[in-house]
Amino acid sequence: MKNNSNTMVIFGGTGDLTHRKLIPALYQLDINGFLPEGLNVISVGRKYKTTEEYRNELRESVRKYSSRSFTEELFNDLAQRVEYFTLDFDSQKDYDSLSEFLNKREKEGKPENRLFYLAVSPDYFGKIVDSCEASGITAGSGWRRLVIEKPFGKDLESATALNASISRVFPEKSIYRIDHYVAKEMIQNIMMLRFQNSIFESIWNRSHIDNVQITVLEKEGVGTRGGYYDHTGATRDMVQNHLLQLLAITAMEPPRSLDPDDVRDEKVRVFQALKDCTAECPEGNLLFGQYEGYRSEDKVPKDSMTETLVAAKVQIDNDRWRGVPFYLLTGKALRNKTAQVTIEFRKMASLASDIKQEPNILEIKIQPDEGITLHLSVKKPGVIDEMVQAEMDYCQSCLYLFNSPDSYEKLILDAMTGDSTRFTRWDELELTWSYIDSILRHAKDNVVPSGYGIGSDGPDELDTFIKSGSGKWWYRN
Ligand code: BG6
Repeated sequence: MKNNSNTMVIFGGTGDLTHRKLIPALYQLDINGFLPEGLNVISVGRKYKTTEEYRNELRESVRKYSSRSFTEELFNDLAQRVEYFTLDFDSQKDYDSLSEFLNKREKEGKPENRLFYLAVSPDYFGKIVDSCEASGITAGSGWRRLVIEKPFGKDLESATALNASISRVFPEKSIYRIDHYVAKEMIQNIMMLRFQNSIFESIWNRSHIDNVQITVLEKEGVGTRGGYYDHTGATRDMVQNHLLQLLAITAMEPPRSLDPDDVRDEKVRVFQALKDCTAECPEGNLLFGQYEGYRSEDKVPKDSMTETLVAAKVQIDNDRWRGVPFYLLTGKALRNKTAQVTIEFRKMASLASDIKQEPNILEIKIQPDEGITLHLSVKKPGVIDEMVQAEMDYCQSCLYLFNSPDSYEKLILDAMTGDSTRFTRWDELELTWSYIDSILRHAKDNVVPSGYGIGSDGPDELDTFIKSGSGKWWYRN
């Protein structure tokens, strides 16, 4: 059997993530013939149910959440690989039974490699890993890998403690910490765009770039996640992971190769060069917002000061970027759902005083549309001294009409094949948490969230937040 054939053990088999993302992703991989040979899935959950009942629930989830059309035949191909196992996360006896169950299946010919996927509340991460070890589930002859969802801690201290507990059982190279943004199609494209096009790489620096804007905006509010979100806030929920990963990929030096550690070494260098906000956060470089009605959401206290929007001016202290502001913006309950990286190049001097010069803009659109737009200044036809803006557009989602694989398809397959490029290494987390801690320490005494209307563009202060270049948020254009 091939070395990527495995038994995937999903803890949290009845949870939202498994139903909405993991099982539909496995179904989509199966349709394309990408599932490893002999893949076996053991879904572990607290509620008692039979495998038959569980498979029926999965059928509905695949119908509802898969991006591919449903066929009974294809679903059955996946379903016959899946079994359900009832386990109380706090009962060591249940882990012993799981261990016996896995061994029995292996004796019957199922794959020996084990991929443990923790799709549970972070409170259980350490507990599950320890209990699996105590029952011998993590020992044995095949490979053992651990896939772990975010949030990985809530600050540097808790992340360090969590890391210590899982590292006791799994070596770093077997831990796959998920940041689903890193697997988005256009985010991976940023590296190709930068490093495989000489016209960009040669001008990707402070001599030519005025500012960089990284915007990840959402239309939805917190929905049913108020309990989790109110202890987290936008800075921890989105900036610590997704936005800083985007920043690192946009700002890093060319890696020596596409080897996972070469790529992650370069990201780490960017995080090391982030200017500490505690000393460097003068007024106006950090803005928090809270949408109106947030305090009436389920499980949110009436006097909550949690930020549902954050804008930050971030500086990278290295030769390539010194002095170039990176404006990060993310928030919930806004006008549109959109994510993009925008590069504003420096303006050219005008050839004549009556020519209005606009900067070149490069937009890398991540979602909902995937593509790249370059804004150029061209002469208005028929007149000598007037310019107009031309847009050169590469619409990836229009050209490739088949659905591009979703993040979870790629990440599950990567973990099964042992490619950790798109997963977060511990030193990346350590540095990003330390940076976020410094922002939050500063914010605690100095920043009060400003209100904004649901479906709006955020607090009014955002309009004047950008002090560099043309002074505008380009995603609004
Ligand atoms: C998650 C956050 O990591 O990312 C959520 O916890 C957020 O709050 C989500 O809604 C956004 O992901 P996407 O892929 O829908 O942009």
